[in-house]
Amino acid sequence: MSNIIENAIEYIKTFFASEYSGHDFDHSIRVYKLAKTIAIKENANVTLVSLAALLHDVDDVKISPNTHEDKLNAVSFLKNEDVSESDIDSICTIISEVSFNGADTLTPSTLEGKCVQDADRLDAIGAIGIARAFAFGGNHNREIHNPDIKPVLNMSKEEYRNHKSTTINHFYEKLFLLKDMINTQTAREIADHRDKFMRSFVDEFLCEWDGTDFND
Ligand code: ADP
Ligand code: NI
Repeated sequence: MSNIIENAIEYIKTFFASEYSGHDFDHSIRVYKLAKTIAIKENANVTLVSLAALLHDVDDVKISPNTHEDKLNAVSFLKNEDVSESDIDSICTIISEVSFNGADTLTPSTLEGKCVQDADRLDAIGAIGIARAFAFGGNHNREIHNPDIKPVLNMSKEEYRNHKSTTINHFYEKLFLLKDMINTQTAREIADHRDKFMRSFVDEFLCEWDGTDFND
């Protein structure tokens, strides 16, 4: 079984070779390591969690819209590795329930899905989350901050996907909400620390923006 994990790591290394959008090889590896740690502590199936974490972005709608619906990239990798039909189904279910979709976000139907979703969310918050948000903003030509543009809360999946805002607003529209959407106790403890760090970053950012951190 450890061979299939090594093969999955090799597969995503090639797959994401020229992808720097925030869904990339390093993100997938961090999600894998977090998900595995959570799965062990929560007594989930570590192999299913590991494979789903490693493959969770290879059929992402933004990267691979044609394979997204049927998870064709993940399925063909798993078939090639002789994974059983029922394990392939379980892995595809975990992957299909992972994403943040505003008010339409799903709570995963299995413990394994909860571990992978928590790991993906942990990688969107904290210091790494801050870096990914600004990388995404630069990649999409977004303003860092604009006090005239207010955050929009409670967006549907469609509204969230089509919404164009500033990177600071993304913290209010998604990143600050994630801590309270965590499924497992193990991930909640990590999320609390990352969330505090991220909030203190945004507080500091807004002080510097307004010039209230110095006396002129
Ligand atoms: P996923 O599909 O994995 O749930 P996304 O595609 O929404 O996540 O986001 C990938 C990364 O880019 C995350 O770190 C996320 O916080 C960041 N990101 C997504 N949308 C924005 C945005 N509008 N502004 C800044 N960062 C964003
Ligand atoms: Ni992800």
